[in-house]
Amino acid sequence: MQTPDISYKDKTWFSEARFGMFIHWGTYSMAARHEWVKKHECISEEHYQRYFEHFDPDRFNPTEWARQAYAAGMRYAVITTKHHEGFCLFDSKYTDYKATNTPAGRDLLREFVDAFRAAGLRIGFYYSLLDWHHPHYRIDRMHPRSLRTGTQADFDRINEGRDGAIYAQYMRDQVTELLTNYGQVDLLWLDFSFPGDYVANDPTHGAGPGKGRADWESEKFMDVVQKLQPQCLVNNRLDLPGNGDFLTPEQVQPHTTPVDEHGNAQVWEGCQTFSGAWGYHRDEQDWKSLRMLLWMLIDGVSKGGNLLLNVGPTARGEFDYRAVERLEGMGKWMSRHSRSIHGCTFAPAGYITPQDCRYTYNPKTNRLYLHVFNWPMKSIHLVGLGNKIAYAQLLNDYSEIRFRDRDAAHDPSPGRIWENCMLELPIQPPPVEVPVIELFLK
Ligand code: GLC
Repeated sequence: MQTPDISYKDKTWFSEARFGMFIHWGTYSMAARHEWVKKHECISEEHYQRYFEHFDPDRFNPTEWARQAYAAGMRYAVITTKHHEGFCLFDSKYTDYKATNTPAGRDLLREFVDAFRAAGLRIGFYYSLLDWHHPHYRIDRMHPRSLRTGTQADFDRINEGRDGAIYAQYMRDQVTELLTNYGQVDLLWLDFSFPGDYVANDPTHGAGPGKGRADWESEKFMDVVQKLQPQCLVNNRLDLPGNGDFLTPEQVQPHTTPVDEHGNAQVWEGCQTFSGAWGYHRDEQDWKSLRMLLWMLIDGVSKGGNLLLNVGPTARGEFDYRAVERLEGMGKWMSRHSRSIHGCTFAPAGYITPQDCRYTYNPKTNRLYLHVFNWPMKSIHLVGLGNKIAYAQLLNDYSEIRFRDRDAAHDPSPGRIWENCMLELPIQPPPVEVPVIELFLK
């Protein structure tokens, strides 16, 4: 079977949106100590069942979630329809392990989709390839039942009666439901593959085999997507040749624009947390500052990438107050500066980024945005921009920034430095988290 040709897919909306919300929500939100809690603490099925039995998010209001996401400047959202624990937020025919059978008593995914669509956000579904609940998912080293050490024969023994093909079919059935029952799905975020040979003792996860395209039956999986919603963007974690429709660097900021073997820029989306865990983690303290989060967003766009920023709602169905604070801060900045984010990408070649700054560029309007992270004294030299700027202004208040072009013809010194343009800055930076100067190019 051939990998479907998906090269015609339109990724424009995705690249123009630039900023999306990741939502990790499941019964692990009740444990409130990491979405991997079942694995980290090797919790048994019987014990883990307590979360399912008590899942009652009485303050779940997806309209409010969508409002918060949109106000932050986000234009799409990706929600965990099923995470590694196997619990489904949607009403699947193929399992009882779903929100409809908890005290919540209804299909929470449907409410999410309706609310986010109504607010003008694109819809993405995260779907976990791993499944720590399904009886036919074969135990691997990521599984809560994995052995600390052991041979392949030991694993074959604990996997007796587990038929991986039944699980692969289950995934196809569920993705069929997801792509049939909820209208247009703009993006599928599949998670994750860890191909490779049997590992006798991985200090982090224990022993066991890897999982990849042969286990997931990735080609057949993609056939289902292709048949039902060919426009749907799919990430790169199915272990298929190529990079999927977009790359997904996780908890790292790429140091440069990722390119393919021909040097073409790749579509990419960094996925990031506020504090480390993806699911609600009550006691985690390592929350990123508003400034760092804005830097991540801007830095990503300056390299042609998206930021998918995660919230882990509580078991009552609300965003963590620390996430709310930061989303509001980002929204405040975005309300005046989103023009340097939405529809923007890296700057044309040849414009050298000044120190402590990032450029983004809107190719449609031919405007360049200079983000200044450390306000310098009085001036900034823009290398490569001599005689290229028609007008410059601060984005927060549209106040003019005067500039002086250095004209190569009238300057005796040879060399690129005289092709600069010099911006004249006020001593006081504008009262915003990250000042942006909008440069209208000729
Ligand atoms: C990792 C984690 C998972 C999380 C995902 C998001 O794969 O296993 O918990 O959902 O990252 O990128």
